[in-house]
Order: sequence, then C-alpha cells, then structure tokens
Amino acid sequence: MINRRKFITLSTSTASAILLTQCVSNSIKAKSSNSVTQSSVGNLLDVDLEASFDQVNIAGKKAKLLSYNGQIPGPRLEAKPGDTVRINFTNKLPQPTNLHYHGLHIPPTGNADNVFLKIQPGESFTYEFTLPKNHPSGTFWYHPHLHGLVAEQVFGGLAGLLIVRGELDEIPEIQAAEEQFIVLKDFALNRNQANFQGHMGIMLGREGELLTVNGELNPNFSIPQGGLLRLRILNASTSRFYRLKLEEHPLYLIATDGGSISEPVELSEVLLTPGERVEILVRGEREPGQYRLLNLPYDRTGGMGGGMMGGGMMGGGMMGNRSNTNTSQTLATLTYNNRVETLPLPKQLITVPELPQAQKTRRLTLNHGMAPGMGMVFLINGQPFEMGNPDTVVKLNTIEDWEIANTGTMDHPFHLHVNDFQVISRDNKPEPYRAWKDTTLVRRGEVVRIRIPFKDFPGKTVYHCHILDHEDLGMMATLEIQA
Ligand code: C2O
Ligand code: CU
Ligand code: CU
Repeated sequence: MINRRKFITLSTSTASAILLTQCVSNSIKAKSSNSVTQSSVGNLLDVDLEASFDQVNIAGKKAKLLSYNGQIPGPRLEAKPGDTVRINFTNKLPQPTNLHYHGLHIPPTGNADNVFLKIQPGESFTYEFTLPKNHPSGTFWYHPHLHGLVAEQVFGGLAGLLIVRGELDEIPEIQAAEEQFIVLKDFALNRNQANFQGHMGIMLGREGELLTVNGELNPNFSIPQGGLLRLRILNASTSRFYRLKLEEHPLYLIATDGGSISEPVELSEVLLTPGERVEILVRGEREPGQYRLLNLPYDRTGGMGGGMMGGGMMGGGMMGNRSNTNTSQTLATLTYNNRVETLPLPKQLITVPELPQAQKTRRLTLNHGMAPGMGMVFLINGQPFEMGNPDTVVKLNTIEDWEIANTGTMDHPFHLHVNDFQVISRDNKPEPYRAWKDTTLVRRGEVVRIRIPFKDFPGKTVYHCHILDHEDLGMMATLEIQA
C-alpha cells in the first residue's frame, strides 16, 4: 500500500522540519506591532509582500520568527468583489515557499491560487487574480502551502487576513457594529518548548504554549454599552483547536468560512479548528466591566496528547500545553465603554440557498497508520499525498456529495480549496443551519457528508487535513476539476 520510497520521502520531510521559531531574546520589551491594512484603490489591490526570517515583535517581546513584511500577523489585505489582487511576493526565507489564498473562489491555476508553485529563496513572483463580481464578502486568509513545509512555516508565523468587503458589510445593523479582527495563533518561543516539538509533537500536530491574539497576549477590546461588536475570528494555528466562550455573553453567529449565514444563530460557545473562521456579533448588554474571551478545554487526540505521554515519564510539562489540557486560558479581555443608543441585532442576513441534490457521491476515509521506523503517516483513502496524478477527478458545473469518514483516533479538520461546500449531515444527523464552509471538523469515528458545487474554475487543486503537520505527513490529495 505504501512503498518504501514513500516512507523515505515522508521521513525526510519530517527530519527537515527544523523549527524556525527560536527566541533570540525575551528580555527586551517591545511594543507589539498592530497589523497594517492594505486596501484596494479603484479596483486594484497592489501589495508588496515579503516573507522573511527575522526579529519581530510578538507578545510584547522580540523574537526571531517568520513573517510577512516583518509583521505578525501579516498585513491585512482588503478588497471588494470584482477587484484585481496583485501580490508582488518576495521570498527572503532560507527555504522555498509559496502563497495560498484560503477560502477564495478564484482559479487554482497560473499565478492565482496555485499551490503547486515553488518560490525559491531570493526569488520573486507576482500573484495576480480577479475576484468574481459575485464573490461572497467574508473573512479569508493567506498562508504558505508548499507541501512538507506548511506546518513549519505557518507555525513560524506566516499568516495574514484577506478580507472581501461587500454585501454583508452593507447590512445596516452590521455597519453600525464596531469591528474587531481576531487572529488566533500559538507560538513556541522558548527552547524548552521548541524541544518538545519532536517526533510525537509533530505527529499529533505541533502546538505552542503562547496563545496570541493578533500577535499580542491578552489584548483588550472595547464594546460600547448598548452597542454591538462584530468579532471576525480566524484560527491561524497550525494544529490548535479553540473552544471559544465570552464570559456572560451569548455569541450571535453571523458568518462562517464562506461568508454570511441566513440569519444570526445564538451560541454559547464556538469551536474553531485550524483554518476555520467565524464572525460573531456581541451585544453590550451586561453590566459595564471586564469579560474574558476564554479558550475552553477540548480533546482532539483521544487522550494521546495527555496521559502517559504527557504526564508520565517524559515529564508533566512535555505535552501539558496541548489543547486537551484541563484548564481554560484567557485569550483577550472585553471592556465596556461609553453608553450608546441600544443597537438591535440584524434579523435577516444573506440567504444561503439550499443546494440541489448531488449528481455523484464519493466516500473518503481519513486515517493514520504506523510506518516502520518513523511512527505515524497520515492517509486519505489509505494513501499518503503524492505529487502528480489526481486522486479525484470531478466535472465542472456538477454537484457532488462527499462522505468523509474519520476511522482514526484523532480529529481531523477537512479543508477543500477553491469551492465552498455545505455540511449536510454528521453521522446522518442534519446540520442545524445552512452555512458555506471550506473547512469542517470530522471528529474521530464520525462520518460527515458535505455537498460541493464545482463552479467557474477548472484545474488541479487539493483537499487536506488543516492540522498542517498531518497535511505535511500525507493527509492531502489532488483534485482535478475538468471543464
Ligand atoms: Cu489553509 Cu490548503 O489551506
Ligand atoms: Cu486553503
Ligand atoms: Cu488531521
């Protein structure tokens, strides 16, 4: 099933996954850099973006990390449907890289969302694409996508928001809300922490002890009393899941990965797996004061990250920082400020249509296996990723159902490029509301049915687990969309 050559390939990529996150100093106090925004002018967003391995400000310290334009997170890019996006990219990293535009509905070919490109150290490349006029408004992002190095480069710091402003932003109640972006990202800044990112850490998916929001520790956000706050949240972590709760405040979900849902849905907490986004409205309806945005415990590895390996002979601290730790962490603090006239929640958002029946159903199995001498390999339908022939061929302008079965012992967030899908059911239970998604959690033992309309763009692209170590270790496959 898996031949020896593949084992060697995989094990080489693991061995070369040297951690680039090394703290050069944690004594220098530096002001955290707030992300710069770059918006389109006329109908063109023209940006110079440089990936480098250099000293940056992070969590109130200076550390040597990977960044775009020296900022963590990278600059926030903003465009409108119909705009052309041109990114003059330069790779100043000591290793090859590339760019992926996570969630955008644009061609997977040429110099658009082409994850098969390889930009060598010192090279420049101009990405250019036009957002369709009917592109949904929403919270998207960009990050490197060179197979074998994705986890290392994203964990090292490379990620930025890409916002498409449109219809959703024009709804009056949403326009009246204050807007706050939240990029969730964990880091391992001290060497002890970096050391445990060894074999096992990588197999489970590396996690760092430092939980940052927009590159800061526990930043403060404000909400006007009586007002509305729109939180636009991205999980840009390599592996960490976030189970988010805002003390004493319900969360009114208004958008998911692919943009608006049909009407707000009240939630008490939200689970955000790597790659996923949510937009949430918060009402300033409590007593003025401070409320914590919490990350509640969640076990994504079926106890593998704790138990013997974590608390046993390897020492309590080894795996003690994984997301299945038993304690909650504070991510940010919400503070009330001056009273405003009470703002209502929107009743109606943008309708998510029900999709017609699928013309074809396929089944995908997610699992991992032990390989001699190298531990776990991660598989889709029993195969690790191999560059070349497509694993799945679909026809443009058709609708398919994919039944994704996780037969393994860890959770896997499944992600598809280029086309959004709707989750139809989980273990045959229908989803409570319709939403456009590009990443969805498939829990261990679960079968998730998604419905995908393949629209507009033929070409080759990929689907994969968004625990990026799993992706690098094989849990990815090539999709060809045929015209
Ligand atoms: Cu955000 Cu293929 O990735
Ligand atoms: Cu993606
Ligand atoms: Cu996975």
